[in-house]
Amino acid sequence: MKTLSFKLTTSRTVKAALGRGLANIPAEFPALFGAADKICLVTGSDAPPSLRARALALFPEGKSPHAYFWLPPSESAKTLEQAGRLCSFLFDRGFSRNSLVIAAGGGAVTDLAGFAASIYMRGIAWVSVPTTFLAQIDAGLGGKTAVNLAGAKNIAGTFHQPALAVCDTAFLDSLPHAELRSGAGELVKYAMIGPAALAAVIKKNLSKTLAGDKSALTGCVSACAAYKLKLVATDERDERGVREALNFGHTAGHAFEAMSGGKLPHGDAVARGIRFALIASRETGILKRADFLKLDALVEALRLKPAAVRRDFRHFLSLVSRDKKARGADNRFVLIAGPGRLCPAENLDAPLLKKAFEGALK
Ligand SMILES: NC(=O)c1ccc[n+]([C@@H]2O[C@H](COP(=O)([O-])OP(=O)(O)OC[C@H]3O[C@@H](n4cnc5c(N)ncnc54)[C@H](O)[C@@H]3O)[C@@H](O)[C@H]2O)c1
Repeated sequence: MKTLSFKLTTSRTVKAALGRGLANIPAEFPALFGAADKICLVTGSDAPPSLRARALALFPEGKSPHAYFWLPPSESAKTLEQAGRLCSFLFDRGFSRNSLVIAAGGGAVTDLAGFAASIYMRGIAWVSVPTTFLAQIDAGLGGKTAVNLAGAKNIAGTFHQPALAVCDTAFLDSLPHAELRSGAGELVKYAMIGPAALAAVIKKNLSKTLAGDKSALTGCVSACAAYKLKLVATDERDERGVREALNFGHTAGHAFEAMSGGKLPHGDAVARGIRFALIASRETGILKRADFLKLDALVEALRLKPAAVRRDFRHFLSLVSRDKKARGADNRFVLIAGPGRLCPAENLDAPLLKKAFEGALK
């Protein structure tokens, strides 16, 4: 097991346990588990039975959960109603400010359970146990929690760091290939925004991760999680521009995800959002054609299927203008001038956006 610990600007510490086949997590983090009077395990109702068994094995006798809460599948879990249901469930069972929520699942489960933990009694401790590739390299780390509103992604949310994130790549053994490819959408993002050493690890392992190679997956989770937590530690609340790099591909990606009515997995939508950002960067002249081709080859390597998204450009424009990252501008995107060189751009004109929109969904 590799453990990471980063001091946040708020002087709190964020911890992560990374590896494959982790066991007896409470013994490794006695202060956290020793202080918990009650524990609730939150999982998704569509997750395979092996996921719950593996999650329980991380928390053996004595520190096993006292209550279990099931969320509806995937994105349908991310509603205010489900957050309210979980809070009422905790209250009915006498959960206190010293209790602990363990969220074991994909990013939808960790986003929702983290959100509920952040508002229950004004915030109780939670442990994030991401079980998809995407959530282990991104969603389950960093303390951004959220629910969707009126078809728009992550509109109501909080910053509430998990006391601990446990990324055990043994969970990925049961993950369908489509979810591995979705995770690889975020992986490709790290290869573009991160330092050369991280990009090299990802390029070396990309095709192996898509084939489910255990050691490639473990290597990528370890490298990406460490990188993300380092960014989060210097910009916990996304106020200093450091964390904005993680949004690369996400403004258009979130719009595609919403336009698909939930049919497009998050990482596939992000991969198309990345292609959108690459084309927009090339068209604004900040990304040279040769660099565009090199970076776009990483998206090409994902062999994305035709996107189940209606080509409604006006709907797209309305979604990007309502994106919370637009900050009052007509639109705001994170563009790229070369590997690791991100630059936000606002109020891009409609013909340029249309070209990027069509190129991203082709
Ligand atoms: N908070 C953040 O910083 C952040 C970052 C990126 C993405 N996100 C959010 O994460 C969500 C996407 O997460 P996701 O890609 O994990 O999808 P998901 O949570 O929808 O899970 C996808 C599917 O995988 C199944 N699953 C989970 N673990 C499994 C396992 N080990 N074996 C078999 N099946 C398993 C789930 O039951 C679900 O059906 C989106 O809502 C996105 O907005 C959040």
